[in-house]
Amino acid sequence: MPSQITVSAPGKIIISGEHAVVHGYPALVTAVDKRIKLYVSTLTKSFSVDPLSSKKFVRESITTLRNYINSPFGKLNIVINSDIPIGRGMGSSAAYAVAISKALLLMSGKNSGSENTSKLAYELEKKYHGNPSGVDISISTMGGVLWFRKETEDFKIFSRVDIKQRLPELFLYDTGKPEETTKETVGHVSELLKKSPSKIDKVFREIEKVSRGLLEYITRQKNYDLGSLLQTNERLLEELGVVSPSTKLLIRSIENMGGVAKITGGGGLKKASGMILIYHPVRDKLVNFAEKRKLRLNVVKFGAKGVTIEK
Ligand code: MEV
Repeated sequence: MPSQITVSAPGKIIISGEHAVVHGYPALVTAVDKRIKLYVSTLTKSFSVDPLSSKKFVRESITTLRNYINSPFGKLNIVINSDIPIGRGMGSSAAYAVAISKALLLMSGKNSGSENTSKLAYELEKKYHGNPSGVDISISTMGGVLWFRKETEDFKIFSRVDIKQRLPELFLYDTGKPEETTKETVGHVSELLKKSPSKIDKVFREIEKVSRGLLEYITRQKNYDLGSLLQTNERLLEELGVVSPSTKLLIRSIENMGGVAKITGGGGLKKASGMILIYHPVRDKLVNFAEKRKLRLNVVKFGAKGVTIEK
C-alpha cells in the first residue's frame, strides 16, 4: 500500500442535457483539459491543505470517506493544485471527489477501479450537492466524451462517444461565480417541475432532442446545424430559469453578431451564471468581438483523460 500518491482528475463541460439529466434524461458531456491534482501522503504529522477551498471542506470529505472505506489511514497530508475554475459549472467539486476517492482507495489497498472510485465519489458529491445526477463524477472518472443517463439513484448508464466530426473551435467565457450553488439551481428546477410537471417535462424532452441531435452530429450520423442546436439548448435552459439577466444579455449580443452561446452546468439565477460555451461559424468575428469587449475566451479541448495516477 503506498504511503504517498499523486492523483489527478479532469473537470468537464456539459455539451447538452444539464438539469434534465437530474430527472432521468440523457446528457452529452466531455472531460476537458483542466485538472485537479492531489498529492496525498501519510508521512507528516499535521494536516495541510493548499489552496482550494477550506480545510473544513477537505476534513469533512475525509471523514465521510473514512466511514465508507472502513480503513484507518492515520493522519494525512494533502496538497491540492487545481486549474479547474471553482463554482463555474466545470465540475471542480466532482473532480476533487473523484481524485480523493481514488487516492484513499489506493492508499488503503482497496479496489480503486473506476466503478468503485465513482461510487465512492458519488457518495461524497451527494454530501455537497444533495441530488446530483452523477454525470460530473462519471466523466471525471472515465474521461473522454460520454453519453450519460441516471436511471435510478444506484443505476447509471453511460457509453463512450467517439468524435467522428471535425469539430469547429468552441470557446468558454467566464461570466463569474453564480450567487447560487449547483444544489440551489438544481433545487430551483425541481421546484418548477413540482409546480408545473407537464410544462417542465416538455422542456426536458426538448432538451433530450437537442442532446440526441448533438450526439448524432458529433458521431456524424446526421448533418445538423451545430449553432441552432446550441441555441435551442440555451433557450430551453432559459425556460428553466437558470440563466441570469446579465448572462442572457451577453448571449443575445453574441447572437446578434451571428454566434450562439449556452450556459454549461448548473447556471446561475440572479447575477453571474458560470461558464458559457460559445460558437461562431466565423471564428475571427467572435475573436474581434471578444477583444473589443475585453472578454477573455478559452478554447475548449474535448475528451481529456479521466482520473489518473501521476508519476
Ligand atoms: C452540473 O454539472 C449539472 C447539473 O445537471 C447537476 C447534475 O447533473 O448533478 C446541473
